[in-house]
Amino acid sequence: MEEKIMTATKGKYKTIVYFICTVAALGGLLFGLDQGFIANALPTIEKVYKFGLKGGELYSAILATGGIIGALLSGIFARLLGRKKSLVFAGFIFTAASAYSAMLPPIAILSACRFSLGFAVGIASFIVPLYLSETAPAKIRGSMGTLFQLMITIGIFLISLTNVFIAKFFVNPATSLPLMFLTISFFAAFMFAGAFMLPESPRWLMLKGRKDETLLVLKKTLNTQEEIDLEVKEIEETLHNRKEAGIGIIFKGYFFKVLVVGILLQIFQQLVGINMMIYYAPEIFGYAGITGLLAMMTVPTVNMLFTFPAVYLVEKWGRKKLLYIGAAMMFITMLAAGLAFKSIGCVTDPSMISGTPKMVLLISVIVYIFGFAASWGPVVWLVCSEIFPLEGREVGMTITTMVNWTFAGIVMANSLTFMQKCGNSSIFFVFAGFCILAIIFVAMFVPETKGITLEEIEFNLKNGKKLRELGNH
Ligand code: BGC
Repeated sequence: MEEKIMTATKGKYKTIVYFICTVAALGGLLFGLDQGFIANALPTIEKVYKFGLKGGELYSAILATGGIIGALLSGIFARLLGRKKSLVFAGFIFTAASAYSAMLPPIAILSACRFSLGFAVGIASFIVPLYLSETAPAKIRGSMGTLFQLMITIGIFLISLTNVFIAKFFVNPATSLPLMFLTISFFAAFMFAGAFMLPESPRWLMLKGRKDETLLVLKKTLNTQEEIDLEVKEIEETLHNRKEAGIGIIFKGYFFKVLVVGILLQIFQQLVGINMMIYYAPEIFGYAGITGLLAMMTVPTVNMLFTFPAVYLVEKWGRKKLLYIGAAMMFITMLAAGLAFKSIGCVTDPSMISGTPKMVLLISVIVYIFGFAASWGPVVWLVCSEIFPLEGREVGMTITTMVNWTFAGIVMANSLTFMQKCGNSSIFFVFAGFCILAIIFVAMFVPETKGITLEEIEFNLKNGKKLRELGNH
């Protein structure tokens, strides 16, 4: 019966293809749920645990530490356990760690749970795109890849919204905080159960020499024998040509060059300050006397809505144009937000602050998030998946993902204390400075990778073309 449902053909693709994409996309959703959890939960967490500003920052940032370790080990899990079991494992950690947090354990255990959630996010952020690209039919691979990024922003939006409502309707923090954690467990349980039912990636099965099982999976996902034969041939050719490099590849000059580009792209993606906004917008708005739904929902809503145009513009305008426009928008708005805070100065009662700086701050944040969501958010991940030669793609993406989490953690762990120590406006000027550096870096070193095959990029790289010309035909 299950077999029948799984292989039923729906429109162009079999039902199982949609099922695969949905379950895998849940991995992106959970990434977003954990990333967006803090913003509207922090006051409730504070009421229960009372760990103060620094403690709150550290609790938020420990997700990133888990993410770094998860990303580091995910390549090993992907190879040894296989893609499916790694997803089941991540789904289990997501479910268990959020459900355990709902029991409001002592701080050390609660932090260990958040570390584990980060660990699962690290695994999911590596395995989900890999699994999708290996299992979804070729024609929808690209759109499924962008679906992952969209799901992250939808997750951030969803958890921000549910946390607002939970906090409003359940005023007792001992009730509302468990409910907030259980919301994550709810979606995680779907991913966990769904991952069990996924087929293994045909490419991984072939890698392990299990051709019979590969054929069984392909029979479930593809429509005709012709498609199956073609896919098997393609996989065999790739495996034949692909000598998976180890970590030693970083010492090869051509690889090192693109690795530095990927690393710097990820560093700048974080040092333009996005996660200060994703995590602490309600606090920052609060310093300027903006409270309520506006403070809690502006960032996640704009972030989600403006990821949609990026999916289209990235192919129409190209990656670099978006990076320039995005960084310029973020520079101007960070400057404006900093000036708004400067004009506010030190006030003891934020409700006395006049309308103009509030308005400037609000508009700046909206345009800033728009700038990020439509450019640096999706484009950096995309370029990092395009610039590495095939044999070192896993190594390159693991390292750049770890760098992303490291710098995300630095921003999460220090933004609010930096504001407290150096004045509210200071951090905005620092981030504005990084936007300028980011523009210079893009102009000098980043290639335009629109409309060129990955093989051509690799050919150019190995033939000594300049970094910024790697995308030229
Ligand atoms: C970044 C995350 C950020 C998210 C916001 C991603 O591209 O890597 O750090 O929280 O975008 O949407």
